[in-house]
Amino acid sequence: MSTPAHLVHEQLRTWVDDMATLCAPDQIHWCDGSQAEYDKLCQEMVDSGTFIRLSDEHRPGSFLARSDPSDVARVEDRTFIACRNPIDAGPTNNWAEPTEMRTTLRSLFDGAMRGRTMYVIPFSMGPIGSDIAQIGVEITDSPYVVVNMALMTRMGNDVLDALGADGTFIPCLHSVGMPLEPGQSDVAWPCDPETKYIVHFTDDRSIWSYGSGYGGNALLGKKCLALRIASTMGRDEGWLAEHMLIMGVTEPDGTKSYVAAAFPSQCGKTNFSMVDPPPAMKEKGWEITTVGDDIAWIKQGPDGSLRAINPEAGYFGVAPGTSLETNPAAVETIRTNTIFTNVALTDDGDVWWEGMDGEPPAHAIDWRGNDWTPASETKAAHPNARFTVAAQQNPVIDPAWDDPAGVPIDAFVFGGRRSGTMPLVVQSFNWAFGVYMAATMGSETTAAAFGEQGVVRRDPYAMLPFAGYHMGDYFNHWLAFGRTLANPPRIFAVNWFRRDEDGNFTWPGFSENVRVLEWIVKRSHGRAIGIESPLGWMPRYGDLDWSGIDGFGEDDFRECMSIDRDEWNAELLQHEELFIRLHDRLPGEFPAMRTLLASSLWRADEHWEMNPDPT
Ligand code: GTP
Ligand code: SPV
Ligand code: MN
Repeated sequence: MSTPAHLVHEQLRTWVDDMATLCAPDQIHWCDGSQAEYDKLCQEMVDSGTFIRLSDEHRPGSFLARSDPSDVARVEDRTFIACRNPIDAGPTNNWAEPTEMRTTLRSLFDGAMRGRTMYVIPFSMGPIGSDIAQIGVEITDSPYVVVNMALMTRMGNDVLDALGADGTFIPCLHSVGMPLEPGQSDVAWPCDPETKYIVHFTDDRSIWSYGSGYGGNALLGKKCLALRIASTMGRDEGWLAEHMLIMGVTEPDGTKSYVAAAFPSQCGKTNFSMVDPPPAMKEKGWEITTVGDDIAWIKQGPDGSLRAINPEAGYFGVAPGTSLETNPAAVETIRTNTIFTNVALTDDGDVWWEGMDGEPPAHAIDWRGNDWTPASETKAAHPNARFTVAAQQNPVIDPAWDDPAGVPIDAFVFGGRRSGTMPLVVQSFNWAFGVYMAATMGSETTAAAFGEQGVVRRDPYAMLPFAGYHMGDYFNHWLAFGRTLANPPRIFAVNWFRRDEDGNFTWPGFSENVRVLEWIVKRSHGRAIGIESPLGWMPRYGDLDWSGIDGFGEDDFRECMSIDRDEWNAELLQHEELFIRLHDRLPGEFPAMRTLLASSLWRADEHWEMNPDPT
């Protein structure tokens, strides 16, 4: 579609014209968001080799894409915050001088879309018309990005209507960075293998992304807008943009709570957001429903409660490890109308990945397009292989998931991937300690970002790669935000990933996490007992519902909950390292809280274990 006849937004028209002049595409297509448009683009990608249509029998309406092997994850070292004052970006971000960066980008984008179509995608993050939602417009030369954005956001004509003549939008410019010369044939996954820039102009709120077609690098509504840009908007306007799932928890008596939980990339947000309660708890009436699996925008509502929306409309979830055992709702969600990226293709036109139910196929085509058998030494699916699917397909979607008013948040949960140190669950003594706990969170790195895997790094709030400004200011923002709340949600830390000396997980995780969640929800309403530990309040063995659990007893529980003083001494030194890094903007409270923690750990035995159930 050429410029829509009803486009009355002059500023948008001018920006698109300017970008078309710069990028020099062959043609411009304004996305209307229709099913016909989606189907046509998918078919064009099948014809061009970007998509493989999966079997109608096994995966109706679904496609497989294989990326370039160099373009498989977010590129944190190529991600920049361009703002006037380098101090505002802080030491955890790559800073760029905005004027210089603009010059660099303009020369990269000059003619970058030659031989390609430029797509204009008007999209809303959050229900259209919600006063928590924001509108963006992404310009891209990637049809793969268009169809992913169609599933991940509300996009098309409705958004243009909502923008009207003078609505505010965040301009997002994206190119895969591979212009085609006349006669040059395209490749299945165009990208620039050498040059990548993911740039956020946080002063004037715009995004320029060059060189990658994958995930958070290219679907600019997600990490770029909904976290990096939105976090700076939240700082300026008094709200929160967080790397959090949002889930509904219904108790047997019908009480409904909502929990927002932050875990770093590939640490279980999608899993937890739709977790299947253990059979014995389900029978009693426990029910989990999903509002969102990755991002939460949170504002104080008119009644003083915290209202949260999921700004997204779909899931871009990690495929490997997804099975009936680990995540039955996800398995059901991705049965149809799903885009798979970098998973393996079976001989009968279905997909496969490590950790899927049943036997591995005797033969498959791996994510690089090579033959694969169970004897192969390489993985069939890339560890950061993903599925893209509309949220409505989730069988346990929460009835209020797209309520423009958002859902009221009762508790915040923070969890990293730690093989030691952090206990299964602890409730912070108060909001300020909760902020400290979230700020000092550590986690082992995963394949969601390029780079070394499995190294513990500080990942404050699971936002290390996503905060659009100085992490110290971010902590202060949370402290200040809490001071405005009459009844702030309770804050908890969890760790599903503790391991024993042999490297086995000490906690069974997945469904069993709902046992911990029960305590969290009840504590947040003042309905469960907690005992004091050096780190905060903890449940005793008898405070959790263990009905139907197999092979996990009180000793196992105490192993998951113990606090080792040597480990914690090392941990506190790492807190100090983080504080030195952030010293110019660090909350004054933090060094004091660290000292308090050290003091309570000294009071404890070398290896703190709660007494066997004192009740
Ligand atoms: P992003 O989309 O990257 O932000 O990640 P996410 O947090 O949504 O990650 P996801 O839910 O896809 O996490 C997937 C990984 O976490 C897989 O390796 C799972 O096996 C693992 N995982 C999820 N829940 C649990 C759990 O309770 N215990 C253990 N041990 N692993 C878990
Ligand atoms: C993450 O890495 O946290 C993701 C995937 O959710 S991506 O969209 O690629 O950032
Ligand atoms: Mn994420």
